[in-house]
Amino acid sequence: MEVSKPRVVVVGSCMIDLVSYAPRLPRAGETLTGRKFQQGFGGKGANQCVAAARLGAETALIARLGDDSFGHEYLKALNKEGVQTGYVSITKEMHTGMAQIVVAECGENQIVIVPGANRNLCVEDVQLAKETIEAAKVLLFQLETPVEATLAALKLAKGKGKRIVNAAPAVLKDTALFTESDIFCINETEAEELLKIPVKSIEDGYKAAEKFRDLGCSAIVITLGSQGAILSTQEDPTPYHIPVKKVQPVDTTGAGDAFLGAMAYYMAYHPQLSLKEIVHRACSVATISVQSPGTQSSFPYRNELPDALL
Ligand SMILES: Nc1ncnc2c1ncn2[C@@H]1O[C@H](COP(=O)(O)OP(=O)(O)OP(=O)(O)O)[C@@H](O)[C@H]1O
Ligand SMILES: *[C@@H]1O[C@H](CO)[C@@H](O)[C@H](O)[C@H]1NC(C)=O
Repeated sequence: MEVSKPRVVVVGSCMIDLVSYAPRLPRAGETLTGRKFQQGFGGKGANQCVAAARLGAETALIARLGDDSFGHEYLKALNKEGVQTGYVSITKEMHTGMAQIVVAECGENQIVIVPGANRNLCVEDVQLAKETIEAAKVLLFQLETPVEATLAALKLAKGKGKRIVNAAPAVLKDTALFTESDIFCINETEAEELLKIPVKSIEDGYKAAEKFRDLGCSAIVITLGSQGAILSTQEDPTPYHIPVKKVQPVDTTGAGDAFLGAMAYYMAYHPQLSLKEIVHRACSVATISVQSPGTQSSFPYRNELPDALL
């Protein structure tokens, strides 16, 4: 079968989210009875890939699943989303990455992540996908998979596609990620953790953006939830604030992933747009996603978007 070249390539994680809704969070040693249970497809890599695919991007994912029912189910789901899965491998004798989540009535949550097969994503996986990586217009990376594989792919793509590094979760295993990315992208809490300064207000965001540029990031995007995002680039270093529409959020989980998938889509399919306009549109897509429940289930499809966002 003839498959078209994916313009967006994601190197990252797949996780199964098992979400239990309980009256409150359990104490140590306590067994609580919950009210509701939901299983979802997650992992920042797969989430961002699906978000881009739903907007109409031709995408490929480079990832690892476990050799269990979850892994086989996830592979089917990715294919159904139109994601190219030739480089998503099932890892023998490993389990699929799992996120066990308890959500209390007050909205607080507790999460245990077991990376499982995600830990097996390696430099050889990246080398097998060399041609796909080198041909991509945009590449997306997060920090839920081994940094060695990420660095290998960043190197292959250097000077070819635009490389977006989403430093989530904020455990930076190699400072080369600052300088080896074309766009470094994080949320406010991750910025706080990496810089050890408060990032709450837009003013804080400006300062944080400047600090990331000092660390060698050629472009930095900091998302600020309902306050939108901050952008600063080498060509236009004065930090710039992009506001978002005021809405009543239903569920903000996955907002960051919706934002990153949308960024990748716009950069790959509308490269003539300014980065400011791209961030603006990606914010609008993420704002749509916070108005529906769930993670991947909240990502909009192309046919649900107004023409101005296509
Ligand atoms: N309450 C909100 N109202 C409007 N837009 C929002 C809201 N929360 C998030 N967004 C949109 O989503 C983008 C990313 O949000 P945020 O900074 O919260 O990402 P995140 O923290 O990585 O998401 P997550 O909740 O998945 O961890 C924002 O820049 C904004 O465009
Ligand atoms: C930022 O992202 C991290 C995951 O890296 C998440 O735990 C945190 O809740 C996010 N912050 C906000 C304000 O949403």
